[in-house]
Amino acid sequence: ASKRRPAGTKFDFMVVSNRLPVDRCTSEGTEDDDGGWRRSPGGLVTALAPLMTKADGAWVGWHGAPDETVRPFSHEGMDLVPVQLSSDDVELYYEGFSNATLWPLYHDVIAPPEFHRAWWDSYRKVNRKFADAVSRHAADGATIWVQDYQLQLVPRLLREARPDLRIGFFNHIPFPPPEIFAQLPWRKEIIDGLLGADLLGFQRPSDAGNFMRSARRFLGASVKQQQVHVKGPDGAITHIARAQAFPISIAVEQISDLAKNPAIIERSRQIREDLGNPKTVLLGVDRLDYTKGIRHRLKAYEELLDEGLIKVEDATLIQVASPSRERVEQYRLLREEIEGTVGHINGTYDTIQNTAVRYLHHSYPVEEMVALYLAADVMLVTALRDGMNLVAKEYVTARTQDTGALILSEFTGAADQLKQALLINPHDIDGMKNAIMRAVNLPVREARRRMKGMRKQILTHDVDHWSADFLGALNEKVVRDDS
Ligand code: G6P
Repeated sequence: ASKRRPAGTKFDFMVVSNRLPVDRCTSEGTEDDDGGWRRSPGGLVTALAPLMTKADGAWVGWHGAPDETVRPFSHEGMDLVPVQLSSDDVELYYEGFSNATLWPLYHDVIAPPEFHRAWWDSYRKVNRKFADAVSRHAADGATIWVQDYQLQLVPRLLREARPDLRIGFFNHIPFPPPEIFAQLPWRKEIIDGLLGADLLGFQRPSDAGNFMRSARRFLGASVKQQQVHVKGPDGAITHIARAQAFPISIAVEQISDLAKNPAIIERSRQIREDLGNPKTVLLGVDRLDYTKGIRHRLKAYEELLDEGLIKVEDATLIQVASPSRERVEQYRLLREEIEGTVGHINGTYDTIQNTAVRYLHHSYPVEEMVALYLAADVMLVTALRDGMNLVAKEYVTARTQDTGALILSEFTGAADQLKQALLINPHDIDGMKNAIMRAVNLPVREARRRMKGMRKQILTHDVDHWSADFLGALNEKVVRDDS
């Protein structure tokens, strides 16, 4: 139930992210009842919610409603400190700088990043708002964990305001190579902002390496192993920040429990039946984002239908595309393109009885997602660039019978860990078509061997490991490395 802490409560542990882990579920919810909020389904929330409930910490973030002031409240045992954003902040800081500058820049410039000074000014201003909220609520010597690209200036701002704090930062998306990062007019300020942290976590070692090369190149920092030595004007070391990979994972137990739940198994059977019991069900699950390679996937699938290698009577591709960032232009364009393509494919290949692509522009609760994973013989993860991709890990975890095939793009963080997947380069359409045909016809024994290997990796590396590893490293005493 929702209760309010006495005003002025200070916390020893705080997580800071752009979004709070809750969404408004009724328009008239008031801050006094918890009926107004429900836990949001994202990966970050599932990752950190158990820890937050246990650690008696607080979560600082935006509550998702522009121009609305919400006082601190608690929900399902988590203390939440809302940060207010005006409609201008949302347009310039969130839709603009975060999602039309940094997002494409950090994902291999798949879409052209836009650079606008007014967006940058707003990013600075809003990062300050988040840092101020943390400063106000953090106990002396508290541990603060800042999340993701929307808040890269917060570590430095916090260190200046509160040198007593221990500050960690985790970047959920890729960190680009310096050759691409160089385009950013404010590259120095971003690196400097991040270097306020004691520990910087990245998904892959190559992301940490890219960051350290940028710190050297753009700020003249010296890099020793995993340490970045920040120097003052006189050349003396003023601060040591460490940078390391901590690949994020999923709540394994939650997914495998759901996958063994008879009601969900029954639901997965129902899904196949509703599709007319095709021999093969293929599945894609993504936020509707240009980084996910949905167009490439549809192109490959359309060619297979065209060549008769896949027949609409035998196979259906379910594409779940959850609505995302709908006011950002590139996302609007992408939606039109995907929906045009799906319409074209279905118009060409559907029969009265069968559909080639079952396209769903919705987001679903985790129970339905697991039923979909159980219903799918082939999972398609074809991202052009992705920090991790938790869908790949969820699919594997849900396949408790060691059946099914995962097609996985090399350009995801998950490919570092799921080496027994059918790895593809999504730009290579012929290669992707071959992989799809291989997955559709994968011998049972080979499928089992691959799935077993991948399940083993995930079962021993769940999300609790991730947060414990990161927080353990954050609390280590740093010995200066001069090697
Ligand atoms: C990615 C980012 C997260 C973000 C999520 C949803 O996973 O790494 O920081 O919260 O996408 O995007 P949204 O813009 O809706 O928060």
